[in-house]
Amino acid sequence: MTSVHAATPGAVDPLLVPQVHEVLEARTEFPGVVTLRVAPLGEPPRAFLPAQIGMVGAFGIGEAAISISSATTDLAAHEYTIRRAGAITTALTRLQPGDQLWVRGPFGRPWDLALDGRDVVIAAGGLGVAPLRSAIYELLRHRDRFGEVVAVIGARSPELLLYADEYPAWRAGGIRVVATIDRAADGWGGPVGFVPEVVATMVENLEPARTGALTCGPDVMMQLVAEALIDRGVAARDIQLTLERNMQCGNGLCGHCQLGSTIVCRDGPVVRYPSVAAALAVAER
Ligand SMILES: Cc1cc2nc3c(=O)[nH]c(=O)nc-3n(C[C@H](O)[C@H](O)[C@H](O)COP(=O)(O)OP(=O)(O)OC[C@H]3O[C@@H](n4cnc5c(N)ncnc54)[C@H](O)[C@@H]3O)c2cc1C
Ligand code: FES
Repeated sequence: MTSVHAATPGAVDPLLVPQVHEVLEARTEFPGVVTLRVAPLGEPPRAFLPAQIGMVGAFGIGEAAISISSATTDLAAHEYTIRRAGAITTALTRLQPGDQLWVRGPFGRPWDLALDGRDVVIAAGGLGVAPLRSAIYELLRHRDRFGEVVAVIGARSPELLLYADEYPAWRAGGIRVVATIDRAADGWGGPVGFVPEVVATMVENLEPARTGALTCGPDVMMQLVAEALIDRGVAARDIQLTLERNMQCGNGLCGHCQLGSTIVCRDGPVVRYPSVAAALAVAER
């Protein structure tokens, strides 16, 4: 797995050793989804790259892969946005300021943000914004290096748009943020439609040969986003996506997280579309 940390040969990789963290803040984004702001006890948080995960653990229960969603420049704490699913995430979403948890990592292949001079399309659905948020902060930090930057963010309904309170700042920083919802809702003045359809309309003003794309969301959404971009001339290899698979060993041993020939915990979570296109198409049948 890609890391900003180097392990000394022969020594235990420190990233594998759990660090006890304290919850500094627990913010409910909407029912069932909580963002925890956490910091290790007595030491600074470890450096990470956008899209890397922490293995985040609830004492007495277990650990789950969760994307780090804060800025890489935030040296005080890391943020994790967690959806209540099973036992681990239920315990994590119940934590309150002052409670403790453990974190191993960071792990995983990050977004390749060497996109200087290019237009950038970000396409996110649901909780898929979480691993893209730290990338968005990076793009904002170096905004003058890129051409147009468009972020299409989708959710079922307006109240489920993740981090919506930050969109005005992202827009002010030079990102064209387009929020879309699946079905018309009272009081909603923005676009209605699925993320791939909106992406298809947004890329008309971009230069396909110099466009790079980052996408995260349900598999079918990512696949349709990739197809829409390829139809308009974007090269398949310039489309990056993050895969979310149910992990068990997290070490490339059990095959639990396999998609085709890709072992997500070893080769991902960020992959380029050509490496998974065939497997995604089969998975959707
Ligand atoms: C690279 C990566 C990044 C992730 N980032 C986040 C994140 O930022 N926030 C977040 O809330 N979750 C994230 N997840 C998912 C999280 O790790 C799992 O949902 C975890 O298994 C939950 O553990 P649990 O014990 O609460 O639920 P479990 O008991 O493991 O599962 C509850 C239900 O969810 C299903 N499930 C479990 N894991 C997955 C999965 N990965 N994809 C689809 N269905 C699943 C199970 O089959 C079951 O139906 C990420 C996973 C990966 C691999
Ligand atoms: S979780 Fe076991 S191989 Fe990836």
